[in-house]
Amino acid sequence: MSDDRVHILLVCGARPNFMKVAPVMAAVEAWNARGRAPVRFSQTLVHTGQHYDAGLSDVFFRQLGLPQPDYHLDVGSGSHAAQTAHVLERLEPVLLQARPDLVIVVGDVNSTLAAALSASKLGIPVAHVEAGLRSGDRTMPEELNRLLTDQLADLLFTTEPAANVNLAREGIDAAKVRFVGNTMIDTLERLLPQARGGEALKRLCLTARTYGLVTLHRPSNVDDAGQLEALVGALRSICAHLPLVWPVHPRTRARLEELHEADGEQAGGGEAAGPPAPRLLLSEPLGYLDFLQLMDGARLVLTDSGGVQEEATVLGVPCLTLRTSTERPVTVAEGTNRLVDPSESAAILGAVDAVLAAPMPAAGHRPELWDGHAAERIVAVIAGWAASSPA
Ligand code: UD1
Ligand code: UDP
Repeated sequence: MSDDRVHILLVCGARPNFMKVAPVMAAVEAWNARGRAPVRFSQTLVHTGQHYDAGLSDVFFRQLGLPQPDYHLDVGSGSHAAQTAHVLERLEPVLLQARPDLVIVVGDVNSTLAAALSASKLGIPVAHVEAGLRSGDRTMPEELNRLLTDQLADLLFTTEPAANVNLAREGIDAAKVRFVGNTMIDTLERLLPQARGGEALKRLCLTARTYGLVTLHRPSNVDDAGQLEALVGALRSICAHLPLVWPVHPRTRARLEELHEADGEQAGGGEAAGPPAPRLLLSEPLGYLDFLQLMDGARLVLTDSGGVQEEATVLGVPCLTLRTSTERPVTVAEGTNRLVDPSESAAILGAVDAVLAAPMPAAGHRPELWDGHAAERIVAVIAGWAASSPA
């Protein structure tokens, strides 16, 4: 290590990264505050700028108590190649200047892979938080990011046992892998009391367990006009008996607007076809606290998000994942999650009926080590790794 402090550089870029990075940074501070630990840390935060709307980025920095990034790469949107290349190109000089001892990447977005590659090419060790998750579906952009990031990583922190099995199958040395639990749940545990005291339900005139919550942003669901239209049709049927709140991701909003244009309707109203359905309430993406309060109070969640599957499991809220695979099998095996083929409208409606017929809270239990302390375990492992690394 270059001086007496181990220098960690953390990279975040997109909405689900912020919940995973925040507890690690807090645990590093807590470790340092203990004072007499043999290893001390300094830390640098880089935001790639993959997500840049205030509602997809700034609000999370505020609500999660993240410090302002030390570096902002401003990569913005683009094709996969362009976005990945911009992170690679813009992170390299930062790494050369900051000279960290370890780069921490989280999750599975383009920024994750690009940062891992940029660091590895410079010979800087990489730690991957949320390693080993596999959907088995290489048409998902995230699956390629996961596979390649894990090949590059020197320390791999997993959230569920299946991830360790996946990594072993891919030939990754078990000595580099630690099952530590889920940092996204660390954030949930910390902020749930605050979220429960929030105003989102009141503002939307909702009461607990009388509505469903929807999120959709996977390209396989929203980039194909026919698939998106079918999903909107299913949501319109569901909301006839269960009001739905749908904070719309910008990728999805753009596709919905294209549908409207194709239909000759006015864009922005949120209906793909037919008369308005007031019980389908579309909104901008929500801040973390509002979204968490709405999820906690929901009768069910309909989603294709990765993180939402995990959060719903911990909250005991039934989750119907509108996908044919999940990289988070523990949420199905032990939690409240069920996969439903998004191309089968009848299957979606049947699954909703089954959820509404079952009691709350949903059957299921909290996965092992999803206890709010994953980041502490991560920092302890890094301290051990640093102590045993050559100076
Ligand atoms: C990205 C991640 C996905 C993650 C999701 C979380 C990749 C390949 N995808 O998908 O794994 O689940 O974030 O939300 O890394 N846009 C805005 N404002 C923004 C950001 C994006 O309007 O602040 C719009 C742009 O039109 C952009 C589109 O959304 O082209 C998609 O953004 P992008 O970051 O490429 O992918 P996501 O769909 O957000
Ligand atoms: N989330 C949020 N507001 C929203 C939708 C989601 O705060 O309007 C949170 C959600 O609680 C979870 C994270 O965003 O913590 C999940 O991110 P996303 O679904 O964008 O990405 P994924 O997990 O699919 O990669």
